[in-house]
Amino acid sequence: MHVTAIVPAAGGGARMAGGVPKQYLLLAGVPLLTRTLQALRAAECLDALILVVPPGHEERCRREILDPFGLSVDAMVSGGEDRQASVYAGLLHARAETDLFLVHDGARPFVAPAVVRAAVVAAAESGGAVVAVPVTDTIKVADRDGWLVETPERGRLWAAQTPQAFRADLFREAHAHALRDGFRATDDSALVERLGHPVRLVPGSSENIKITTTADLLLANQILTEREMTNSQRRKRR
Ligand code: CTP
Ligand code: MG
Repeated sequence: MHVTAIVPAAGGGARMAGGVPKQYLLLAGVPLLTRTLQALRAAECLDALILVVPPGHEERCRREILDPFGLSVDAMVSGGEDRQASVYAGLLHARAETDLFLVHDGARPFVAPAVVRAAVVAAAESGGAVVAVPVTDTIKVADRDGWLVETPERGRLWAAQTPQAFRADLFREAHAHALRDGFRATDDSALVERLGHPVRLVPGSSENIKITTTADLLLANQILTEREMTNSQRRKRR
């Protein structure tokens, strides 16, 4: 089975304060996007990786994200207007032999290798799989005027993360249909769900955060510190 990963990393990071685009922000000395690519590589189940970057960023990405860490990708592609367009741009560069696509946000550096593998296995079995965690807040649906209209039962609500993985034919069809119909969504699963195809839920971890605001950077450093402590305890025990 040939698995192609698409990593959309072409966003502008508007919700992150500061001058450096968030892809290049250093987390304990290593750029955020480098950490994401290293985490995917550690899963050891991906045959090709397509990195989608902001137009004009190819050179900087090689210089800051890939080369210093001995990383390489199979293709580096210019992103589009929104996340969906960026993933689609990546999709167009995939090799024909791809059996399964795995999409993972460039801004989620803490994904566990086991979760990546679980998404691949579930998608190979069911056609589609989405990593998600139960929501902890009570979620309200509001109308455009700010009046609450509904409170869905929390026990059935999940916050979707990435990775999301899909059989290649299904994924290509979902993106083509969405494009044809002018349907836009903030994740890939929504495009597959609207074809009526079942998608499997894969329980993830709350550590797999998407770095979005400066508050997330605090959390990121805390996760890294904890991991470092666990690693050094393991080393001592050996
Ligand atoms: N993304 C992309 N192309 C876009 C927009 C987003 O590839 N046109 C990517 C981002 O780089 C990120 C992922 O999709 O890895 C999730 O998006 P988000 O966290 O919203 O990142 P940004 O869009 O960069 O941030 P913001 O919305 O704050 O501008
Ligand atoms: Mg965005």
